[in-house]
Amino acid sequence: MKKILKILGILIGLIALIIIGGASYISIKGIPSYEAQSPEITIEADSTMIAEGKRLASLVCHNCHMNQSGLLEGKLMEDLPPEFGKAYAPNITQHDKYGIGRYTDGELAYLLRTGIKRDGGYAPPWMVKFPHLSDYDLHSVIAYLRSEQPELKPSNKQHPDSEPSFLAKFLCYVAFKPLPYPDAPIIAPDPGDKVAYGKYLATAKLDCYGCHSPSFESQNIMEPEKTPGYFSGGNAMPNLSGEIIYTRNLTMDKATGMGDWTEEQFIKAMKYGQRDNAPSLRYPMPPYAVVTDEEASAIWAYLKTIPVIENDVDALYTN
Ligand code: HEC
Ligand code: HEC
Repeated sequence: MKKILKILGILIGLIALIIIGGASYISIKGIPSYEAQSPEITIEADSTMIAEGKRLASLVCHNCHMNQSGLLEGKLMEDLPPEFGKAYAPNITQHDKYGIGRYTDGELAYLLRTGIKRDGGYAPPWMVKFPHLSDYDLHSVIAYLRSEQPELKPSNKQHPDSEPSFLAKFLCYVAFKPLPYPDAPIIAPDPGDKVAYGKYLATAKLDCYGCHSPSFESQNIMEPEKTPGYFSGGNAMPNLSGEIIYTRNLTMDKATGMGDWTEEQFIKAMKYGQRDNAPSLRYPMPPYAVVTDEEASAIWAYLKTIPVIENDVDALYTN
């Protein structure tokens, strides 16, 4: 009996050592690094591409990387849930040392698709990735980042190092991984194919489904439509004062989703945050004023085709 207890004691001790060892490894090593295998590409930019890149960036990059001075100098991410620690969206102006002046077109494409930076560091999930964005749209963003726009003028603004929590580091070892770089060109669907185009906008380009599905942890980035509770809302998102706002159910459920909405009401809410007989939409719902009515209409057409899910988001506020 004594012998068994002794062996058991040694075993438990060993397991504890492995756990402590693993935990200290993760905690010292920090966010993991990978080998950057950036493609060799040179983007032939024209003014149409730069304008489209700027429009897309204003919808999906500026919120994090633009600070109060209106430059892409980066800032503290005030709405990062505190359990992940503290993170700064970096300076992405064209400064050689403090910005992204040294990135090549290929390195930017590789980072935006996979999450691996030019130095091999892995950008955690709070930096968005675009595995399904069309090559044209991706190249437009890169063309914009290289353009003469005033908000990109080299700035030597520096931020303190981000301080990811142990949980954030741990998740970057076990759950959050770089995404594969596509091995074939990606072409966006024709806008004439409204439903397919709407799906492209709502997933690959404007990433509506990430916020509008129940949680980021269960998001299926490579196959968005397989995300549990796809578009049924309920994702708990802190606003800038730390108060939790739940995303809404955008499926066509009559009682808890948009089943009773008209297309006009949807477009008004999406573009300007305005709803009939209800308060305006709050942060972090971005205003999509620069999205065209055709694009908004395509997203609406797509939402009408996805599985209807009953999910009463209002009930979450009272629970
Ligand atoms: C939700 C916030 C958020 C959004 C949206 C976002 N980023 Fe970032 N970005 C970050 C954070 C945080 C990092 C730093 C990641 C890390 O720890 O390495 C980052 C890193 C980067 C880097 C690497 C900089 C370097 O020094 O290596 C580039 C380039 C970049 N982002 C460009 C973009 C572009 C272009 C977009 C839009 C298409 C975008 N980001 C959207 C938060 C964001
Ligand atoms: C950063 C997260 C985020 C993204 C990205 C996002 N939303 Fe939202 N959305 C929200 C939040 C949070 C609310 C709820 C705001 C509130 O209750 O005041 C909301 C509310 C809405 C509503 C109101 C629905 C209702 O029942 O009142 C519509 C419509 C909507 N979003 C459409 C979209 C579309 C379309 C996209 C993509 C183009 C999108 N959202 C992208 C966070 C987001």
